[in-house]
Amino acid sequence: MKKFEHKIVVITGAASGMGRSAALAFAREGAAVVACDLLEEEAGALLADLDAAGGPGARFVRLDVSREDDWEALARLLRAEGGLDVLFNNAGISGTFDPDLTSTRAWERLVDVNAKGVFLGMKHVVPLMRLRGGGAIVNMSSISASVGQPRVHMGYSASKAAVQAMTRAAAVHYAEDGIRVNAVAPGMLPAMRTSRGSADPVWREKQIDAVPLKRVGRVEEVAAAVLFLASDEASYITGVEVAVDGGFLSL
Ligand SMILES: NC(=O)c1ccc[n+]([C@@H]2O[C@H](COP(=O)([O-])OP(=O)(O)OC[C@H]3O[C@@H](n4cnc5c(N)ncnc54)[C@H](O)[C@@H]3O)[C@@H](O)[C@H]2O)c1
Repeated sequence: MKKFEHKIVVITGAASGMGRSAALAFAREGAAVVACDLLEEEAGALLADLDAAGGPGARFVRLDVSREDDWEALARLLRAEGGLDVLFNNAGISGTFDPDLTSTRAWERLVDVNAKGVFLGMKHVVPLMRLRGGGAIVNMSSISASVGQPRVHMGYSASKAAVQAMTRAAAVHYAEDGIRVNAVAPGMLPAMRTSRGSADPVWREKQIDAVPLKRVGRVEEVAAAVLFLASDEASYITGVEVAVDGGFLSL
């Protein structure tokens, strides 16, 4: 039996990078994936790949994680179907999308998408997980929650530290509902679509030099951690953040 057979798994930021990789991994394990993203133009290719991976009835939903009305619409859809089992709150924008490290507008956008988006996701799925007697949430944090990095806006670090803190708070709040809440904190992964400063090869080389395993992580390595935390194998694990960083935070 596949690990996520008969499970409904919602993934934000599913059109690209780590979200896409996790969506494929869940589909291979039998999950019905609800792939959410802003990038509607990617939906066709993504759904074809999810079908090929063997996931039954994958769907694409256009959702801006920072908009509560979008979450309300998704919640209405899922409630009509009896809820969901797993949420991977993954969507995010890079802390280097704006080179101005003191831009207030960048602060607002980073906190809106990376932190408020995760809050709204948990707020709107928890009642639907209760309908099914429990569930698992995995939030996307980052090493930037724990260390400062050159060129990375404070708003990014703050947004990911908020994810870290919300993960612990939600794990405590929803334990009695049978809902586990954990986070993954990737280190150096392939650059995000919105990366500017962190896409610079010279900057990247310096960062990789500080990684004990001396290489960039693969999106599949993050997906494996997400699947583990979302699975019944992690049934006694809640409120933790798993670093997938090649040892960066251990230096
Ligand atoms: N790449 C890295 O080095 C790295 C390291 C640590 C953590 N992260 C985090 O991992 C997550 C995924 O990053 P990635 O590397 O796969 O980047 P990516 O840019 O490839 O993917 C991000 C996805 O999120 C979507 N998205 C952005 N804003 C959105 C919004 N408002 N609503 C819905 N979808 C939205 C994008 O369209 C995209 O598909 C992010 O939260 C990021 O902060 C990335």
